[in-house]
Amino acid sequence: MTRSGAGFSRRAFLRAGAALGAMAAIAPSRTGRAHTPEPFVPTRTLTLTSGETELHLLGPDKPATRVYAYDGQPLRLLRMPRGTRLEATYVNGLDEGSSLHFHGIRMPNEYDGVPPLTQPLVGPGERFVHRLPLDDPGTYFFHPHCDETGQSGRGLVGTLIVEDERDPPFDLDEVLCLKDWRLDDDGSFLELTEPSGASKAGTFGQTRRVNGVPQLELTAPAGGDVRLRILNVDASRVMGIGVEGAKAWLIAVDGHALDPILLDDLPDGIWRMGPAQRIDVHLRMPTDGAPVRVGDYAAADIYYFASLAASGPAKAHPGQGPLALPRAELPFPDLDSAEFHSFTLQQATDQAVKQLGLPPDDPLSKALVASFCVGATTYWSIGQVSWATGNRLGLPPPLAVMNEGRSYRIQIKNETRFSHPMHLHGHAFAVLSSSKGRLPQHFADTVLVQPNEAVEIGFVAAQGDWVFHCHILEHMETGMMGWFRVI
Ligand code: C2O
Ligand code: CU
Repeated sequence: MTRSGAGFSRRAFLRAGAALGAMAAIAPSRTGRAHTPEPFVPTRTLTLTSGETELHLLGPDKPATRVYAYDGQPLRLLRMPRGTRLEATYVNGLDEGSSLHFHGIRMPNEYDGVPPLTQPLVGPGERFVHRLPLDDPGTYFFHPHCDETGQSGRGLVGTLIVEDERDPPFDLDEVLCLKDWRLDDDGSFLELTEPSGASKAGTFGQTRRVNGVPQLELTAPAGGDVRLRILNVDASRVMGIGVEGAKAWLIAVDGHALDPILLDDLPDGIWRMGPAQRIDVHLRMPTDGAPVRVGDYAAADIYYFASLAASGPAKAHPGQGPLALPRAELPFPDLDSAEFHSFTLQQATDQAVKQLGLPPDDPLSKALVASFCVGATTYWSIGQVSWATGNRLGLPPPLAVMNEGRSYRIQIKNETRFSHPMHLHGHAFAVLSSSKGRLPQHFADTVLVQPNEAVEIGFVAAQGDWVFHCHILEHMETGMMGWFRVI
């Protein structure tokens, strides 16, 4: 950890700070809105405080892990009705900078929780008030938007269910939050990022868990209708979700209803789901008592994370069809008039990247990166542009400047050897096509783009500065993030 010859000085630190100051100055004016929004009258007020707590991830008799959680509740679960006006105050109880982002919620840009683009970093002990209209029912989640690899990697993530009183009646409605943990035998965390992972498929956890336990054992009426809300909140892993022993339909993606699709009709009978993606599955319990299993079939060893046992007298099903959710009420882009953009996901090739001249594990270097809410190194790019990292501090120009209310078609081409779950803030987009023909049309906020695949999405642009990034957390923090300015 020698600093001699590194050429780093207090002055360089200040210079870098000035560069990031420019980052904040580029934030949009909040006054130039095209129309007056309706006044926000909260119907639900809550506080979410991040902090540390203990969780027995390795098993009841093994050492506990000091995890991060909201309000001391690991994988905190919130349920509230559609139409809620949520005023959520984030209190940062960590001893590092952070923020709170409600993933997939369409909201005014200023509450999006993305430092330094939409707000300053929330320092230790500080707070930030979010005002969110929860008009789109479905399965969502929330997490910090700064050092996600470290903070979400230690468990700082929660589920938000926006309930819809118009939903068909299910006999059971379960949240299954999937996350792998990178643990040592003594329960402590291993390094959550390593260059070999960040520059490739990600740094994986080996302790596979659902809601913090190895497997859920559920009971439902024989012939009953079960709704499973399955969230991939892992940092790196792409899963392939499937069901054995029962008829099951995909009824929503990223919270948004779609025409039910029998899982068996999908390629390989599974739904591929990268970090941040969610699905709702309707599963009809068998009447003969046969075992039902739900698993990740994309893993080398299939990971069965839930089993369901049928109980009681069999429910009769005159129709036999799936229980469809109410149709999603979302703006669909006008494809004839839509403006077209294409972006390619690549390994970063920018040779001009300037090193700050400090090894990444140097405390000063770490402090810089933390105070700017960026990663240490650049490995990735979108359209040959990389997000700021410790290699090069300063906000990149927007990938595109768009007009509010106008329709856009975005082609995402993956020229890397790895899959990337690409997420756009502030919108629910329509997934229009995959060059591999593997995706049904559906609404989503995150879409998996496989190697050598081109996926096209479309949306009606909403006002604000919205980041567009890979949700493999290390990819996002090492360059694979850009932003759209919508004016
Ligand atoms: Cu889960 Cu930038 O978000
Ligand atoms: Cu990625």
